[in-house]
Amino acid sequence: MGEKERHLKILVIHGPNLNMLGMREPEIYGHQTLEEINAALKAQADRLGLDLETFQSNHEGEIVDQIQQAHDAFDGIIINPAAYTHTSVAVRDALSMLNIPVVEIHLSNINKREAFRHTSLISDIVAARISGFGHHGYLLALEGLAQMLSGDSAERLTESGN
Ligand code: DQA
Repeated sequence: MGEKERHLKILVIHGPNLNMLGMREPEIYGHQTLEEINAALKAQADRLGLDLETFQSNHEGEIVDQIQQAHDAFDGIIINPAAYTHTSVAVRDALSMLNIPVVEIHLSNINKREAFRHTSLISDIVAARISGFGHHGYLLALEGLAQMLSGDSAERLTESGN
């Protein structure tokens, strides 16, 4: 039983230019820095009893590598692919390989913006999507994912007869 009580592990991936949050177009993306967002996520993860890791890269291949390494190492992923949302078949293909829930998140409401942002190459393969709540959306994503996963693990426990 002890082992089954291990904390669920969540990976949060931030795509290109999100390292510039705070000074990057604050009227669209808000004033919070990525460090502040990550700190709020870690605090929320502690409250929810989850292990949380964060990763940011401006490079598509590094994001693909990180997604590949998440296989078997994490129970769920929250990803803001930023500009790669609209362009990257590679990020989509990497996420498609995983058999864990993925939540897509955007600070802004991408459907309310330029037409090229209306297409997400991952929206049809993710478990859920949050867009337009600013930095608070990350906390909503974490809470939703935790709930999704606790339902799953309850099923797994029942199946194994515990
Ligand atoms: C974004 C929206 C994308 O269109 C943009 O390229 C970003 C951030 C968002 O969080 O609102 O870099 O993903």
